[in-house]
Amino acid sequence: MVPGVFSAVYSALCSALNVWTLLVLLAVSFYRWWKKPHPNFPPGPRGLPVIGVLPWLGGDPQKVLFDWGQKYGPVMSVRMANVDTVFLNNFDAINSALVKQGDTFSGRTKLKPASDILGNNGLVMTDYGEKLLNQKRFAAKTLRRLGMGKQEMVDIVNEEMGHFAKYLETQVGKPIDLAVDYNNMTANVICVTAFGRRFDYEDPQFKRLFQLLQNHYVADESLLILLFFFYNYLHFIPPFKGVKERFAKTEYAILDAVQTIIDEHRKDFHPDCIRDYIDSFLYEQKYGKESKYFTDTQLRVTCRDLFEAGTDTSSSTLAWLVLGLLNYPECYKRIVAEVEQVIGIFCKMLVGCLF
Ligand code: HEM
Repeated sequence: MVPGVFSAVYSALCSALNVWTLLVLLAVSFYRWWKKPHPNFPPGPRGLPVIGVLPWLGGDPQKVLFDWGQKYGPVMSVRMANVDTVFLNNFDAINSALVKQGDTFSGRTKLKPASDILGNNGLVMTDYGEKLLNQKRFAAKTLRRLGMGKQEMVDIVNEEMGHFAKYLETQVGKPIDLAVDYNNMTANVICVTAFGRRFDYEDPQFKRLFQLLQNHYVADESLLILLFFFYNYLHFIPPFKGVKERFAKTEYAILDAVQTIIDEHRKDFHPDCIRDYIDSFLYEQKYGKESKYFTDTQLRVTCRDLFEAGTDTSSSTLAWLVLGLLNYPECYKRIVAEVEQVIGIFCKMLVGCLF
């Protein structure tokens, strides 16, 4: 009897231990995988399951990411919410990945809800493949023909800087937000190239496009938008559902505004007078050998891409540059001296206005 009870207790203990051992082993393996999902995975903070490092980012994420960059090195992984993200923290790392191995790093992840609206179209969201290669080749060739990297572009930028300097003169003594105002200038450089014309800063069509762009980037809802880029399922839950609907409404309104400009081009298109990116695209659509990639949607989304991808990036870069130069006046003096020496006094005056 006693040996029978003993063996029953013994085997119960053993199976409980087995279950616990198994659970502990599973937990350890999960933890090890969580810490390093791949042998070559770059080092970096992992945060917590599901939320990743979000609670650590605080109100100044760029500072936190900068400190992590110092700690983990030039190639760092950060688990943003539930998405493994790789950060390139210095010029060599960026150059080595995005320039020297550009093809390897040209894939696109699906960022809902933007991908729901834009599909596999345009230049920014299209995944790596024949279509993207074809469209990038066309974009590079066309933008070069329209002046990118050449004197024509310098002239376009100089003309716009003249308008911007005049605008700044009207603002003397008033507080201004350079990050917002630079948008007008950078957007107009893109408008000249893509749409064949610049807009007056007070032009209702231009202001509307701008207002729509601002809705995306500086709206109070931008944090919520960022969250549902990470957690797809949030789209169905309030308040994210409403945010998604407003995001989609803005995106469709931008596409509509761009479509109006395309329609105007279609009306007076002439194959012997190619004025801008839209005309070049319409020409390819009509006469090109690979017209299957030159669809109406592709044109609409590409124009939206050029406008959105080029405006905020360039104006934010300028705004950060101004902040940097205000903090390092000796660098400012050196830049102005170099501009004066290399480009001339006229540009120096404009640089003086901008900074
Ligand atoms: C300082 C300004 C800018 C910065 C920091 C910037 C940054 C970037 C980055 C990081 C990418 C992603 C590259 C990749 O994933 O391989 C990108 C792509 C893109 N950018 Fe810019 N950009 C700037 C200006 C512009 C301008 C002025 C335009 C258009 C006129 C533009 C149009 C595009 C387009 C169409 C793409 C997607 C196609 C591609 O990946 O090659 N960007 N940009």
